[in-house]
Amino acid sequence: IQSKKDKLVQIYEEAASFYHQILLNTVTGQEALDYMMQRGFSLETLKEFQIGFSPSNRTALYQMLKAKHFDDELLQESGIFSERRGQNEMFDRFSSRIIFPLRNPKGKTIAFSGRILQASPDTDSDYHEAKYLNSPETLLFNKRDFLFNFDKSRSEIRKSSEVILFEGYMDVVSAWQAGVRNGVASMGTSLTEEQNRMLTKVADNIVIAYDGDRAGIEATKRAIEILDKNKHFDISIFPLEAGMDPDEFIQQKGAKAFCEAIKNNRETSIQFFSRYLKTQLNLDTEKNRITYIETILKALVSLDSLIERELYLKELSDEFGIPVDSLQKQLKGYQQQLISERTGQRQSNPAPISHYKAN
Ligand code: CTP
Ligand code: MN
Ligand code: MN
Ligand code: MN
Ligand code: MN
Repeated sequence: IQSKKDKLVQIYEEAASFYHQILLNTVTGQEALDYMMQRGFSLETLKEFQIGFSPSNRTALYQMLKAKHFDDELLQESGIFSERRGQNEMFDRFSSRIIFPLRNPKGKTIAFSGRILQASPDTDSDYHEAKYLNSPETLLFNKRDFLFNFDKSRSEIRKSSEVILFEGYMDVVSAWQAGVRNGVASMGTSLTEEQNRMLTKVADNIVIAYDGDRAGIEATKRAIEILDKNKHFDISIFPLEAGMDPDEFIQQKGAKAFCEAIKNNRETSIQFFSRYLKTQLNLDTEKNRITYIETILKALVSLDSLIERELYLKELSDEFGIPVDSLQKQLKGYQQQLISERTGQRQSNPAPISHYKAN
């Protein structure tokens, strides 16, 4: 007998293939197909990811699924449909959107994300429809522990012990088409602890390739903090010009340039951090230069590699004309400070009683 989960997967698989057929083989899907082709995606790629289009007819999918005898309760639970104003009709919530099937690690579709066809620059503001719309959380789908493309990329990630972390589906698909096959996306700009845990099991190296805009840079900072916590990953950052994302890089500079860049243009966390700081601080003033140097020195405290630390000290020394010895002394001071802060914290905040109980 089939479990509820199996039936929900079946619904998603049927829906994915319905949407995919519409994109590839119908007049209804023509505009969306033109759009994806014009963005440089090949038919082969669209097939590989089973990308689709949801028709403007909001009941077409429902009728198809009813004809296959899925019952209403289950269809409701799938999250694909929304009931409008208490009417008894089930409306396709992804209507008129390009469909990205979200697949679990076994390759089964368990959710959708739908992109509107014409995104205006400010679609993400509250006054417009969101650019992307996802399935709600269901029995099958939990956003926090989902990684887009993990099913297809896992073997390559294992083989190379390296994963590339993108922000968007488009970036992953575009990179895949360009030949970079160890990419996943974190469902927008916030990497979760769960996603981190999934990735630590398959790779030792991670490259963060988020968008070059403000949001992407802030997200990179947060991702580094999360990834750094368990000290598992060797982290690098793929720097992108402001206002560019990996997919746009590929469109503008080509697949070959992208493959080369993602392999060779990598920053360490400290390099990223110092570049980021320089966009925040105008180093023409003495005050900001001091703030900059102090902030970098504080960041160096957490580095494990003595060699790496020495290298940055030398660079700072050269850049600002301060003797390495002085920088070294200041760094030692920050190390002491950190140690006493930690022990201080322990004294002022005793551990909860349960902590002292034997297990
Ligand atoms: N996202 C989302 N909801 C939104 C906007 C974004 O869930 N309203 C998530 C999606 O997972 C998306 C990712 O954030 O893939 C990156 O967003 P963005 O950079 O704005 O989109 P792109 O991937 O660049 O898409 P496109 O190139 O089609 O504009
Ligand atoms: Mn956006
Ligand atoms: Mn973005
Ligand atoms: Mn983007
Ligand atoms: Mn994009």
